[in-house]
Amino acid sequence: MSLALCGERSERAMQRLRLELKAEADRSYDVLVGRGILNDLHKYITRIGSFSSYALVTDDFVRPLVAEALQANLRSHDINSELLSFPPGEASKNMGIVLQLCQQLIARGFDRKSLLLAVGGGVVGDVTGFAAAIYMRGIPYVQVPTTLLAQVDSSIGGKTGVDLPSGKNLLGAFKQPLLVVSDPDVLNTLPVEARREGFAEIIKAALIANQELFFLLENERTHLLETTDDVLESIIAKTAEVKCQVVSQDEHESGLRRILNFGHTLGHALEAASNYSLTHGQAVAAGMGVAIQLSQKWAGLSSDDADRALRLIQSIGLPTGLPGNVNSASLLSALEKDKKIQKNICYFVLISKIGQAVIHPITVEDLKGSLDKFATN
Ligand SMILES: NC(=O)c1ccc[n+]([C@@H]2O[C@H](COP(=O)([O-])OP(=O)(O)OC[C@H]3O[C@@H](n4cnc5c(N)ncnc54)[C@H](O)[C@@H]3O)[C@@H](O)[C@H]2O)c1
Ligand SMILES: [Zn+2]
Repeated sequence: MSLALCGERSERAMQRLRLELKAEADRSYDVLVGRGILNDLHKYITRIGSFSSYALVTDDFVRPLVAEALQANLRSHDINSELLSFPPGEASKNMGIVLQLCQQLIARGFDRKSLLLAVGGGVVGDVTGFAAAIYMRGIPYVQVPTTLLAQVDSSIGGKTGVDLPSGKNLLGAFKQPLLVVSDPDVLNTLPVEARREGFAEIIKAALIANQELFFLLENERTHLLETTDDVLESIIAKTAEVKCQVVSQDEHESGLRRILNFGHTLGHALEAASNYSLTHGQAVAAGMGVAIQLSQKWAGLSSDDADRALRLIQSIGLPTGLPGNVNSASLLSALEKDKKIQKNICYFVLISKIGQAVIHPITVEDLKGSLDKFATN
């Protein structure tokens, strides 16, 4: 997969990444990243095929911010679309919303040649992708991510799904989009907390697979949360490229894709053990902090690299250690529940240097010893 700058006169400058799916090359797709490119959405849609009808699916918050203008823009280029929305937030990531969406599509006569466009954050992307996976046994969809997390992570790779009361993402399907269109200009309205959530995943990608991205983040670290310019575009493109490369090699997470779980094995356990009082980004950051320390012990990470990695996470206001009210016993029990411990072993994603991930088995006893040490540090 290559990163090419498209400089055609009639087209805005952008980074065109390609997610290659080797098993079925015709399902490979472009991930476009560029400031202002949503103004040309009609062109990109026309290029990927002809469709019987179009629906922009969004949440009630993003609807007036982005989706209504997008619908008007498409209409001015003779693409008429329906605009469907549901309440914002994780609470909407459920089967009820998917059913409601499918019923709205039926009522409007949507068929197998219709196109859905997910305009929103990860919740909108996951719900719309899942609806696209099951509506009439599958219809095409496009991702138009509007949060930083969605632009660098959730819109790419085809994991879709919803939550059940007993846990997150328990119902789902792999359903790759036809195209991802990420315009960093829509992030100008994003609150700083949401940016931080995105940067947790960006730092993760740098640590596991892209040293150059790490250096860029390190250089910019004093004002990362405020960047809105070409540097942000470059950061988004580089992070999206990591995700594209990993998914290209392992679409269904049977091997390499597991490295994307850096900081997440413990992060998910922390989210559960803290009763979801930590955000996903905070929990992943703390999980990365612990994984970085485990990496020094088990993967030969130098103390210089470890310090730099921890400093970068801290510089955007994210934690790198376990919260005081979480102990090793509750974490181990959350890891057990999450089926992360099998035959007394937990497989951890560690880093041997900045930009290089390794998967390492750690016994429960060793893990407990390390966690106890981190908790008392
Ligand atoms: N499918 C995957 O591979 C994958 C990967 C990571 C995370 N996820 C999922 O993504 C979800 C989290 O995504 P998220 O953080 O984008 O959350 P989100 O979709 O809930 O968006 C967060 C909030 O930001 C608002 N928002 C969206 N765009 C905005 C904008 N441009 N300006 C201002 N506000 C805006 C939304 O209305 C919402 O209130 C979780 O459900 C998680 O499980 C999926
Ligand atoms: Zn994550």
